[in-house]
Amino acid sequence: MKFNNIIILFSALFSQVLSLNILGVFPYQGKSHFFVFGPYLKELARRGHNLTVISYFPLKEPIDNYHDIKLSGKVLEDVFPIYRSYWTIIETSLFLKNSGQENCITLLENENVQRLWKTEQKFDLMLMELFNNDCALGLAHKLGLPVVGLTSHVLMPWHYEDYGIQYNPSYVPVLFLEGGTKPTLYQRIERSIFHVYLVYLHKLTCRRNNQKTLAQYFDDVPPLADLAKNVKMLLLYTNYVVSGSGLYPPNVREVGGYHVTKPKELPQDLKKFIEESEHGVVYISFGSMLRSTSTPKDKLDAIIAAVSEIPQRIIWKWEEKTLPGNPKNIFISNWLPQNDILAHPKVLAFYSHCGMLGTTEAIHYGVPMIGMPIFGDQPGNAAAIEESGLGVQIHIKDLTKELLLEKLRIVLNPEFRRKVKELSKVWHDRPQSPMDTAIYWTEYAARTANYTFRTPASSVPLYQYRIWDVTAVILAILIIFIYSIKTVISLVQKRREDRYYEFKTK
Ligand SMILES: *[C@@H]1O[C@H](CO)[C@@H](O)[C@H](O)[C@H]1NC(C)=O
Ligand SMILES: *[C@@H]1O[C@H](CO)[C@@H](O)[C@H](O)[C@H]1NC(C)=O
Repeated sequence: MKFNNIIILFSALFSQVLSLNILGVFPYQGKSHFFVFGPYLKELARRGHNLTVISYFPLKEPIDNYHDIKLSGKVLEDVFPIYRSYWTIIETSLFLKNSGQENCITLLENENVQRLWKTEQKFDLMLMELFNNDCALGLAHKLGLPVVGLTSHVLMPWHYEDYGIQYNPSYVPVLFLEGGTKPTLYQRIERSIFHVYLVYLHKLTCRRNNQKTLAQYFDDVPPLADLAKNVKMLLLYTNYVVSGSGLYPPNVREVGGYHVTKPKELPQDLKKFIEESEHGVVYISFGSMLRSTSTPKDKLDAIIAAVSEIPQRIIWKWEEKTLPGNPKNIFISNWLPQNDILAHPKVLAFYSHCGMLGTTEAIHYGVPMIGMPIFGDQPGNAAAIEESGLGVQIHIKDLTKELLLEKLRIVLNPEFRRKVKELSKVWHDRPQSPMDTAIYWTEYAARTANYTFRTPASSVPLYQYRIWDVTAVILAILIIFIYSIKTVISLVQKRREDRYYEFKTK
């Protein structure tokens, strides 16, 4: 009898911990981002947690414990042209700001979302994408939920302040810009300016606007800047083996790699094309957000000319039915199972825009990359690929047939490929799989909801954090000290001169 009670008590205790009621909020409509989160959300449901997921991407086939709330609106893919300039950076940053504001409105005006707070549905934890807006932090506050933040990329510029991480342009890349961890002086100035621009654009427009939108629905929502600092755990979609060692506090965890699923059987035509290649295959894709048909004509010609000269076959994600010149060794399709292609041992290299998904799959399977970054975190990823040894990079403005051929020869070299396989082993060498790591810290955040692990660095005012006040005081003391000494010396000198003068006049 007593023993039974203990078991009941234990199972009650454990079921509380083991099966969480989780609310997932994904207010951004970018398809490539949700590609990352999907497998993790499904795995949480498979492990017995009850998920309610607000997003633009409802499941195609229902699974147990997974309940969708669909947001209405157009999904984003194939939208950005393959082109780079300061102007496209400004445009993209304004797009981020506008979509961040609209995403908040769409989220809160959804009736099924409103039902959550009107019926006071009980949850243990909120998962939310932290990308272009912080709106859902207000909702988490209203529902009294601890928050686990998710990204499908590196930190956003304002995250540094939110999590008390120092943004240092001398070795930390900023979104949209090149330079990696060894920037030139010009690049350091460039990234310092853009960092401040992006942070203040977010804080003064998007965050303020989100706050106003929230105020239409709830009274007493604390400033989003404060709520952002209270995020329990941020699961960052990077890993230091490729992205380089960052300085993160314990509530920021690197979980890069969890979206890579076991490869499936390739479609017949593709499988035949790969397996009948005598010298292997090079895979080309510029992702789901970029339109490869908008590649400038001279660049496109350069790519086609270069790949027609190598003995390898080419698989290219291309939205049109044909390529100019209809090259024979190229397989084109507007949809390709990237994960399964990269998993094939005959796929020798990957020519990519360096999105975090493709980069992660490439390191997972040990496929060398040629990175041609366009926007967002891609320039930083491309630099990381080169610095880690996963591949080489090409800047689109420099792209010519000769340069691409040279880069292809580098990554197709057997010695280069052997080193990438070695790097891939290091990537896989972890105490837990990335999926287990992500789920561990998610459950941990719920178990430790009453504690905070944020670093005090996140609440220290900037002038103290940068030691400006101490420097000012010490400088002031030094100046006073030097000035006093000078005064004393000149006084002594004056007295001497006076005496000399007295002596002479006597
Ligand atoms: C699981 O979530 C659904 C949808 O939000 C909810 O209706 C249901 O009551 C939850 N189940 C449990 C056991 O809490
Ligand atoms: C947090 O503290 C409250 C109040 O003491 C308690 O009811 C709750 O169970 C605690 N939460 C967790 C996850 O331990």
